[in-house]
Amino acid sequence: MPDSAHRPINDLQSYWMPFTANQQFKSAPRMLVSAKGMYYKTDTGREVLDGVSGMWCVNAGHNRDPITEAIREQAGQMDYATAFQIGHPLAFEVANRLTAILPENLEHVFFANSGSEAVDTALKIALAYHRARGEGTRTRFIGRERGYHGVGFGGTAVGGIVNNRKQFGNMLGGVDHLPHTHNLEKNAFSRGQPEWGADLADDLERLVALHDASTIAAVIVEPMAGSTGVLVPPVGYLERLRTICDRHGILLIFDEVITGFGRTGAAFGAERFSVKPDLMTMAKGLTNGAVPMSAVATTRGIYDAMMDGPPDVIELFHGYTYSAHPLACAAALASLDLYLEEGLFDRASELASYWEESVHSLKDAKNVIDIRNIGLVAGIELKPRGDDPAKRGYDCFVRCFEEGLLFRQTGDTIALAPPLIIQKSEIDHIVDTLGKILNELQ
Ligand SMILES: Cc1ncc(COP(=O)(O)O)c(C=O)c1O
Repeated sequence: MPDSAHRPINDLQSYWMPFTANQQFKSAPRMLVSAKGMYYKTDTGREVLDGVSGMWCVNAGHNRDPITEAIREQAGQMDYATAFQIGHPLAFEVANRLTAILPENLEHVFFANSGSEAVDTALKIALAYHRARGEGTRTRFIGRERGYHGVGFGGTAVGGIVNNRKQFGNMLGGVDHLPHTHNLEKNAFSRGQPEWGADLADDLERLVALHDASTIAAVIVEPMAGSTGVLVPPVGYLERLRTICDRHGILLIFDEVITGFGRTGAAFGAERFSVKPDLMTMAKGLTNGAVPMSAVATTRGIYDAMMDGPPDVIELFHGYTYSAHPLACAAALASLDLYLEEGLFDRASELASYWEESVHSLKDAKNVIDIRNIGLVAGIELKPRGDDPAKRGYDCFVRCFEEGLLFRQTGDTIALAPPLIIQKSEIDHIVDTLGKILNELQ
């Protein structure tokens, strides 16, 4: 008999947890069992303030009744419908509702289920678009060091976080990377967009000179890099990337899986930073995290170039069983309603200066070497402990969780991105808890 046949149902071994130190976790598990508004509850009944919107996704707060109701109602009406050669009305409605809040150059929407799938979809659309226009030699992608674009082979290849790449061989060929924009010497403790670093975008000219523009399909960046520890784009940087892409016929993809739906104080990072991409990925906040769903928005030019062939031929041989899943569509519509009714994108913008003041008050806490912020996001970078990178960050994460605060630890950076419904008193509580724990920690 295999070992697993004897495991009780509450045994922790069968479940192989993602992006988790399984052995460490299973020796001292942390369990969440319910959530409402700004708070989770643990299996021991403790309340935990959610300082990172689950994982950058629950922008309107947890278990919002209109979203729960919409999912429940849709589950009773039609649980599933294929999106291949058949439609259902909610899918069209979500696409139309999205184009109403997207930058006006993005007019078409393709659905997938996760940020990773959206990224791989965007990369494939870029390739197919160039090929449709007779520029099939454009197959190269340019990502950025420290970028995170999910875990598909495409997203892993264009991503730039070494731990996410080193176990998986060569991945997608023909990928190069821009330098990241993090610089403690020049930009530590910047508030909002750092002043230094626009020139880093010029490295794209070097890559064009190296590879030739005729081989490059697209550049992909997060407008604000989240998962690598909150890197806010330097003033002028995204504008310059846009200019260079235009000069060479290269598509610019913004991965807005984190920055979408109000996080930076506007509907999308593209709006917040006033730079329009040719393709945009989104996920997470699209359904307020309630049902997996993601999307890729494209310009009319890209869509039209693909719609140029015979009308009875499938234009893009790509899609997912669960593209535009009815439950996800219902959750997306209810989420979009809630965001608008409660003015949550504006709320994030209005709270941003209080948030900025509050998080920067931790400047003198022990081991803090940088604080970065934009909208309702902050990254607090800690000095690594000796030769043990990420250990201080992890200890802080565990101690804060015990103390009733959840954030996302990325290396030695504390990433904060609370639901946009957060109250000032809760911001104070986050800062007080962090200040206390940081000063206690070795
Ligand atoms: C910018 C970005 N792209 C893609 C992804 C991947 O999304 P998912 O985990 O839904 O596949 C993430 C996840 O955090 C992300 O931050």
